[in-house]
Amino acid sequence: MMKMTATALAAVLLAAAGSAVAAPTVDVLHYWTSGSEASGLNELKTLLQKEGVVWKDAPVAGGTGMNAVQVLHARVAAGDPPAAVQLQPSQIATWGKEGQLRDLDDIATKNGWDKIISPELIPYLNVDKQYVAVPVNVHRNNWLWYNKQVFDKLGLAPPKTWDEFNAVGDKLKAAGVIPLALGGQPWQELDLFENLVLGIGGPEFYRKALVQQDESALRSPTMLKVFTELRKLNDYVDPNYPGRDWNLATAMLIQGKAAMQIQGDWAKGEMLLANKKANVDYGCVPAPGTAGDFTWIIDAFSFFKTKNADKVEGQTDMATAVLDKNFQEAFSLKKGSIPARVDVSSAKFDECGKQSFVDRAQAQANHTTIPSLAHNAAAAEDKTGVFLDTISSFFESKNMTPQQGIDRLVSGLQSL
Ligand code: GAL
Repeated sequence: MMKMTATALAAVLLAAAGSAVAAPTVDVLHYWTSGSEASGLNELKTLLQKEGVVWKDAPVAGGTGMNAVQVLHARVAAGDPPAAVQLQPSQIATWGKEGQLRDLDDIATKNGWDKIISPELIPYLNVDKQYVAVPVNVHRNNWLWYNKQVFDKLGLAPPKTWDEFNAVGDKLKAAGVIPLALGGQPWQELDLFENLVLGIGGPEFYRKALVQQDESALRSPTMLKVFTELRKLNDYVDPNYPGRDWNLATAMLIQGKAAMQIQGDWAKGEMLLANKKANVDYGCVPAPGTAGDFTWIIDAFSFFKTKNADKVEGQTDMATAVLDKNFQEAFSLKKGSIPARVDVSSAKFDECGKQSFVDRAQAQANHTTIPSLAHNAAAAEDKTGVFLDTISSFFESKNMTPQQGIDRLVSGLQSL
């Protein structure tokens, strides 16, 4: 654990003596509001408070920051940017290129970030080769979670392909169980879509279609298969899915009301918080067709430039604490993710977490690590917005044909 800085000690002592004194301070804009997200973040809050840092919490509920991003724009426009903000790669690029984010190179050099951060993440934390973000963790997005007791009771095996998924879905429906737990929000529907692109087309196709937005890939027979299967998934969700938050969908899986959820491993954080056990209550397998691939998501913090000395010190303390080795382990054990540091042992993680460590290393060796589109890593914000709007409209409008969906996606991207 870190030593208390002299300033922090002075602040604590003087505060205890009843004298008001400036103390290192951070106001933190984030969206970690579910039970397991808040529990993980509390590890950081507690660590910083022990250092004498004043933490002003600014939570904005809404999966993957779909609402927090609007609050951030409003606060910056009002001249009141947060000292610290939770961002993902495309947002780091947006604010970094505008010169609004603090240069963290001094902290990175002092703490050897180039050697301790998982290498595939580093380019996404830099703008013009300058660190402007510190990574908290890595989530894997291409997971399928299943309720093991429901599967065992019905004698089902977790699906490895999308044809197997459909067959399992039909058997679950016949047994009166909701096959797929889903929240009807654009990012969750785009999540399904990106897993279909990877599972049906493979990593290279994913890169061409979603990272490069190559028109021949978007108009290919493979993409038609993706949209056709996405339409099929309408048959496997319950009528009340529209607008549902992701953690309420996970609660359906935990309670056995639904049998499967295709979701990043933050869903596991909720299952752990509910005292559920891997391979007893829940099972984890790669999303159909994606075994050997690792769709990564980075959660990071950036720090808006400020002249306020207390905020500058609070930012320095927070950027340093986020990559503290003990915090990196404690956070991910609660959050369902794996550390952004490469030197944290997997020993304390459950079987699904251990599998994530192994699969990340294998995917790095095989060049099958893939940036998530739904979680703001594969494409710029404007292009991601077109995918969100188009895929959500397609999933919600059952009379839109797969070809119409593709035509709408291509024209939307071309209109940027
Ligand atoms: C992801 C984020 C996770 C979790 C999830 C649901 O984008 O990386 O930490 O917050 O959204 O909100």
